[in-house]
Amino acid sequence: MLEIAPSILSADFANLGDNIKIVERTGVKYLHIDVMDGKFVPSISFGMPIISSIRNITGMIFDVHLMIQEPERYIAEFAKCGADIITVHAEACVHLDRVITQIKDCGCKAAVALNPATPLQTIEYVLDKLDMVLIMSVNPGFGGQKYIPYATDKIKTLKSMVTARKLSTLIEVDGGVNASNVQEIAEAGVDIAVMGSAVFQGSIEENLEKIYNIMK
Ligand code: DX5
Ligand code: ZN
Repeated sequence: MLEIAPSILSADFANLGDNIKIVERTGVKYLHIDVMDGKFVPSISFGMPIISSIRNITGMIFDVHLMIQEPERYIAEFAKCGADIITVHAEACVHLDRVITQIKDCGCKAAVALNPATPLQTIEYVLDKLDMVLIMSVNPGFGGQKYIPYATDKIKTLKSMVTARKLSTLIEVDGGVNASNVQEIAEAGVDIAVMGSAVFQGSIEENLEKIYNIMK
């Protein structure tokens, strides 16, 4: 069963707590939290104080997507402010294996994200250590971009790698996912679909209901 991870990047920040509570009431398990540093990606989003605040109002699984250079500098702090899953970009880590261990040592689940152009071979040797792999289906940095179609092939290939090794590593997809492509993406083998604008633009309840109905 596909899980949805709403990305608060597209939420109404003046009403962030309310937006999160609406999402939680519909039964969503994961909340996707995009942290951007203005260096690894062009934009800057938010950091620890926001995460700590929303940690107090929800029990959802915090799926923290770090779009930051040298994320090893901040792993302990993100773990402390309430992250459950910490995702780092392979492209942002010189010592990826070490960062994965660091995340686990902090008591969090470890995930690695790959930009659209980054090959799956990048994680070939560390796949067995990962709780999740995030396939970026847009170039990271902004919400509301268009899904890059070749991401679907990448998901299928990753799914066969995970199955062949008998792993329980989850596959997440992020970027441009909406009601019109979520079915195709689920069939490719995704476990968790991140959705920002498709959830938070307009009525959150209506958007999620539409998506749930498609996935039934
Ligand atoms: C993009 C972020 C995404 C973003 C997705 O860099 O990592 O999580 O919020 O937004 P949508 O679903 O609108 O493409
Ligand atoms: Zn993200």
